[in-house]
Amino acid sequence: MKKTIVAPGLLAAKASDLGSAIARVEQAGAQYLHIDVMDGHFAPNFSFGPNIVEGLRDVSKMYFDVHLIIDNPERFTPMFIKAGADCITVHVEAQGNIEEVRKICRESGKGFGLSVNPNTPVEDFEHLYSDCDLLLIMSIEPGYGGQKFFPASLDKIAKAKEIRERLGASYLISVDGGVTLENAAQCVAAGADALVAGGAVFNAKDPEAVISEIMSM
Ligand code: DX5
Ligand code: ZN
Repeated sequence: MKKTIVAPGLLAAKASDLGSAIARVEQAGAQYLHIDVMDGHFAPNFSFGPNIVEGLRDVSKMYFDVHLIIDNPERFTPMFIKAGADCITVHVEAQGNIEEVRKICRESGKGFGLSVNPNTPVEDFEHLYSDCDLLLIMSIEPGYGGQKFFPASLDKIAKAKEIRERLGASYLISVDGGVTLENAAQCVAAGADALVAGGAVFNAKDPEAVISEIMSM
């Protein structure tokens, strides 16, 4: 049976003890760790830099799914790869050179992902999707955790799946923002392969149960 990939979102982990927080989700079977990087420019907030990725790399074998919510991602992609990222996801709306990011990822054997904001029609950038490993559908405005899931994201997930079939592409469809146990099943039914879950995992009384429930969807 196909398992849904769960990607706990580091932004919601306890900042004073990231190491223990991620050890717990890794032990619970989470395959990906979603690491948000913000520049205070493309995104109205700051978060983690390459030093955090490097430090966590030493203590975790999870797939580091690095979400660059920044302009000019081509400038910073090499640093995050050197620090231990497994996949670099950049925004189709960002200023900068997406092709260069793709090239750097391909040359270093890392995954390459594209992310689409809530107000961006997913079909507007389909010319970029044939050669990407992950398509990240934002179900909130990027910037902060703890926001409410936009229900219109479900149609976008379904569209991302249609486009994948039409292009004969093989990217994973991931969903980011406001994912809860309630809407997770709807996302999977619409076509999501992976779900980012920040608060839903790290603020749960029983993160292990949330992880295994999402993985079984
Ligand atoms: C927002 C980030 C999301 C966010 C998700 O800028 O891209 O990954 O941290 O957090 P939750 O799951 O708590 O909405
Ligand atoms: Zn994210």
